[in-house]
Parts: sequence; structure tokens; C-alpha cells
Amino acid sequence: MPNAKPLILSFGSINIDVTARAARLPRPGETVHGESYAVMLGGKGSNQAAAAGRLAAGSGIQVALAGRIGQDSFGAQARRELERFGVDLTPLREDAAQATGIALIGIDGSGENCITVVGGANMAVDETDVDAASDWLERATVLLLQLEVPQQAVLAAARKARAAGAVVVLDPAPAPEHGLLDALWHEIDILTPNESETFQLTGLRPDTVEDAAKAAEVLLARGVKAVLVKMGSRGVFWHDGTQSGHSAPFRIEPVDTVAAGDCFNAGLAFALAQGKPFPEAVRIASACGALATTRHGAADAAPEWEAVAALMAAQPEA
Ligand code: RIB
Repeated sequence: MPNAKPLILSFGSINIDVTARAARLPRPGETVHGESYAVMLGGKGSNQAAAAGRLAAGSGIQVALAGRIGQDSFGAQARRELERFGVDLTPLREDAAQATGIALIGIDGSGENCITVVGGANMAVDETDVDAASDWLERATVLLLQLEVPQQAVLAAARKARAAGAVVVLDPAPAPEHGLLDALWHEIDILTPNESETFQLTGLRPDTVEDAAKAAEVLLARGVKAVLVKMGSRGVFWHDGTQSGHSAPFRIEPVDTVAAGDCFNAGLAFALAQGKPFPEAVRIASACGALATTRHGAADAAPEWEAVAALMAAQPEA
């Protein structure tokens, strides 16, 4: 059946984030007094879907999420929150034997965070989930992948979607301790590592644009078609396989960096699903990531398209 609407599909993790804020993070063995806490939707797969859903509101672009939750109250909460973002959950599966994933997050006064993820149902995602989401993977315009579910499942999802014509975007987060599966490199259209993931994958620290360019060359040589190195407050280095460039950072006051990378990738997917040229898609992604750092929460920090457009208009690329 022809797919009338472009489809952004995220295949990945769903967590509930239990977040505590404190002036500073505790050292090992130490207890500190916190200021507030929240129990909200998180998980890289669901954050990317939720952020894409918020951006796509009223645009005619469909957003869906495939992955696994447990049959528990956190699973029910994740469903409710994702529906609020307009995400189609038809391909989402429930696992009676596993708990919904959670992330324990500490955030300090400067907005820095540390995160412990207990994957639960996410770590049970396998090729049966790929089979179950087959129709969606084959219809996807853009497939968003991350590494909070096993890499074999990520590889199978990438293969299926890419063979059917999707643009496959992999956020190599959390940084893979043992690298990527050899076959996975060749199934990625766009790899979007941040600074620590770039170092983990290449051994090179992208401290300058020149260093980021060297790291991108290493990643392209492994088989990916394009690379975006997220350099945090130094902006984004991009290489589309033919051309390359640097997108300057937006000037913002960050309060919470959780899920900024997820919102970046959602912005990228939204722009690509609209057929935007690569440098413009990078700029849109960068604005989405920057705005996410000005708001608290994970999925909740995702910006609306109007806010993204306003930031880009206020701070045009030089
Ligand atoms: O990328 C941010 C996410 O990482 C959080 O929402 C948390 O769930 C962890 O998975």
C-alpha cells in the first residue's frame, strides 16, 4: 500500500526517568540533600520519538515508536506520555516477563548529569521485534536508532528499513564499550556521535573542528555514509560523504542537558523527512538540541517547531 505520509520511526528504548536535582552530585559513598525529583518519560528511543512527534504536530508527518515495555505501571505511564506527544504506538510491544526500563538520573546545579540505566524490557528486544515491526520499518522515511537495545536488533532493523529505502540514522549512545558490530557500520546512513562517543569509536577527541574532521574521516572509512559530530558548545561538524562543514553553536543558557542529543536527532529526522538539504537539516537539528538544554526533563524538554524556527531566525548562520 503506498505510504501517503512521510514516516519517522524510532526503534529503540523506552524508560521512565527518576530524576533528582541537587546542588552537586554525590561522590562514591556519599549522600547529599537534593532539591526536587521527577518521575517522567525518558529513554533514548522514546525521547527521539516524542521530540519528533512534538516537532511534527500539524505537519502531516507521522511519527511512530517500536520497542518493548513491561506490563507494569511505568509501562502504562510511558504509553500515556508518548500518546500525548502524538506518537503512534501500534508497533510497541509489551513483555510480561520484563520490567519497563528505568534511568536513575542525578542533575547538579550547573545542569550536568550522570545516568544509570536499568534496561529491563529494552534489553530483551530482539529480531522478533524487528519482524513484528516489519511493515513499519518498510514504510519508514527516516529510521531513528540508538544503542539502549541490543545491537543485533539494531542491525536487523537497520537492514530491513534501509533495504526498503529509509534513511537510517544511528545515535551511538550510550557509547558502545566494545564498538559497533562490523556489519552495522555499512547499514548506517548518518552516524551522530557526541564528543565522548566520537572518542570511544575513534580514539580521537573532537576538541577542534580539525580534530572532528579527522574523526569523521575515520568513521566514514568504516562504512557509514555521513557523519555529524556533536561538539557540544563548539557546534556541529558534518560530512555528508562528499561535502563537509561546521555549524556554529547557538547562544543559549543551558539548565539541563538530558536528552539534548535525542532532540537533536529528532530535529534531524524531521528535517530529512521534509526533504531539507543536509546543511539545513544539521542547522535545524542543532537548534532543537540547543533549545532542549534550556528546558528541564528528557522528552519534556523537546521544543515545538515554532520555537526552533524563532531561534534560527534570531541567530542565522553567519
Ligand atoms: O538521552 C537521555 C536518556 O538517556 C534519558 O532519558 C535516560 O532514560 C537515558 O536513557
